[in-house]
Amino acid sequence: MTQTPRYTLTQRLLHWLIAFLALLTLGIGMILGSLGFEGTQEIFGKATTNAFYTGHKTGGVLILIFMFLRLGVRLVSGAPPYPSPLNAFERVASRTVHGLLYVALLTMPILGWLATAAGGYPVQFFAWNLPGMIGQDKALSEILFSLHGIVGWVSVGLLILHIGGALQHWLIKRDAVMTRMSLFR
Ligand code: HEM
Repeated sequence: MTQTPRYTLTQRLLHWLIAFLALLTLGIGMILGSLGFEGTQEIFGKATTNAFYTGHKTGGVLILIFMFLRLGVRLVSGAPPYPSPLNAFERVASRTVHGLLYVALLTMPILGWLATAAGGYPVQFFAWNLPGMIGQDKALSEILFSLHGIVGWVSVGLLILHIGGALQHWLIKRDAVMTRMSLFR
């Protein structure tokens, strides 16, 4: 029996690493965005709130680094051929959602980084503070934070479509699409 062609091991490792980081960082971002600094402190306490902020910023910077790496690998290695061709709708839908996920996951951390710096807050990466890149500007910071939040919600929508599509191939159509990205056969 011929085996399903798969993404390279580097691409599959990066996919699952970024998936884990994105779900975690988006989850924390939703908490911080909906409760705000004071609200988060009231419910979770000071230490956990600080850990949420550091974790969210660190996760975002890691996603940015891994996404650049992933884009480079994708441009060099491409994508494997499908074992059986997708129909026209699946082809357009998967290309659009994958493309928009690349754009969203590269844009979101950059917006968060610049919004944080413009607001005069530290751009934390683990125990370090990274350079802000732009000067302090409160009005600009508010605009950038709004955009950061909008791209965040768009990403949630894209991920629901993406994970729904993957599960549909895996559990309903039972074809080999999931195998292309899985770490183990
Ligand atoms: C339970 C969660 C997830 C599952 C089951 C899943 C599954 C898959 C599968 C099967 C593919 C290959 C599709 C194909 O060959 O046409 C794929 C590709 C992709 N996934 Fe996911 N995924 C998940 C989470 C995520 C998350 C959280 C992200 C974003 C952070 C993401 C971003 C992408 C992107 C951008 C591609 C296209 C890869 C490329 O062609 O370069 N996935 N995923």
